[in-house]
Amino acid sequence: MSRELIYNAFLHLTPNHHSHGYWRTQEGRVQYGYSKLEPYVDVVKTLERGLFDTLFIADVSGVYDIDKGDDSATVRAGSQFPEPDPITIVSALGLVTEHLGFAVTSNVVQSHPFQFARQLSSLDHFTDGRAAWNIVTSYLTNGFENFGYDRIVPHDERYRWAQEYVDVTYKLWEKSWEDGAVLHDPESNRFFDPERIHRIDHRGEYYSVAGPHIVEPSPQRTPVLFQAGNSQAGREFAARNAEVTFLPSYTPETARKDIGILDEESRRQGRNPSALKKIVQLSTVIGSTEDEARRKQRHLHENVDFDALLGFLSGGSGIDFTGIDPDTPLSELRKRVEKGDHVRSIIRAAAEADYGTEGEATFKDYLLSHAFLPGKFAGTPEQIADHVQRWSDAGVDGFNVVPVTTLGWWDEWVEHVVPVLQERGLAQREYHPGTLREKLFRDGARIASEHRAHRVAIPARG
Ligand SMILES: Cc1cc2nc3c(=O)[nH]c(=O)nc-3n(C[C@H](O)[C@H](O)[C@H](O)COP(=O)(O)O)c2cc1C
Repeated sequence: MSRELIYNAFLHLTPNHHSHGYWRTQEGRVQYGYSKLEPYVDVVKTLERGLFDTLFIADVSGVYDIDKGDDSATVRAGSQFPEPDPITIVSALGLVTEHLGFAVTSNVVQSHPFQFARQLSSLDHFTDGRAAWNIVTSYLTNGFENFGYDRIVPHDERYRWAQEYVDVTYKLWEKSWEDGAVLHDPESNRFFDPERIHRIDHRGEYYSVAGPHIVEPSPQRTPVLFQAGNSQAGREFAARNAEVTFLPSYTPETARKDIGILDEESRRQGRNPSALKKIVQLSTVIGSTEDEARRKQRHLHENVDFDALLGFLSGGSGIDFTGIDPDTPLSELRKRVEKGDHVRSIIRAAAEADYGTEGEATFKDYLLSHAFLPGKFAGTPEQIADHVQRWSDAGVDGFNVVPVTTLGWWDEWVEHVVPVLQERGLAQREYHPGTLREKLFRDGARIASEHRAHRVAIPARG
């Protein structure tokens, strides 16, 4: 049975996820509550009213500094800093919801796979099978420095490392406990059957893990696997491991192409392309009229803290954008960087793009249309539904909905946009029963039989 589009709520337990500077406005002050539990309880109750599939919690484990340099702009602005640990909030939010899934971001450097597999199995138990993992390899220098590395591990090596990491978790989740190992049998005096519980004896390049897994199999065993990779190594990793992936596509046309590439990669990896859901960002400001939506978008843009945005962009890309005046005309900037600065190719592409501005486009136009994520599409609920329809026609399976503020804002979406989406058959009207995987794929609770998780081998018992 086919299903409606998937909607995830894009959240981060931090003062400013992507709306750099907006916290200073009247509506933005809701973010003062970022480190309290209650505002997130309100958010998940709202999301469930709006039949969202998943709360997707992003995370980083370091500050956005510039090649071990200045982090003052992002720290000052609370841009993805500080970072309470997302895993700690899920049990509480699971208790006040019944259907919403919880995708927790965790990178391979921050936690040992034995301990992480244990945590996710626990969450999957405590939420009755609604846990998911966003597998990330981390891109922050400071995120590596915090765990004993002098510098960031090179990009493709991070993906090799991540493959071994997920393989260890697959062995723990899928191979350590056979079905039927849980007996609860007073007659034979066996709570568990030790014959069916195995060590994994993993010996690899990065990890040695004996096992057995010390949590009994949870409803989904392997939680639903999310991942985003734009690079070749990233795409291969997604096609091999992920069940939900984020496309880098800016337009429905490019999404169509990106989906084709991923489907081909999935087939190469021996997987059915439909076993990998493709999601894009859906970033809107909502107005009762188009004029109102545009006014709200202007208000959002007028309040951008460009120093924080540049610090964030620099920390994430490893390219120092700070010190460039946002009002610099792009042509001027291009002339300056032609002489050999390392932002050259980005600025050239930026200078050649069409921004639809009346005068000459500036660096600020580039930043607002590409780097600043919230509020990209301004429109009425009906226009937003048309927009969603265009992406759906291009073949995407769903969206990560980007809020203007991570707290508070969701009521607006649920009240005004969801009914129109439901009316058009673009959003579900009721939850499908079962675990998160059953809801997303309308199939079993366990990961698909052809997935690599079932193919990793553990040594036979001697
Ligand atoms: C929607 C979305 C959410 C992401 N969330 C996180 C995150 O929370 N933490 C993180 O370290 N990286 C996150 N990333 C970055 C990805 O893990 C990955 O590094 C990025 O897509 C680049 O992929 P590549 O290295 O293959 O080019 C996210 C990416 C996307 C598109």
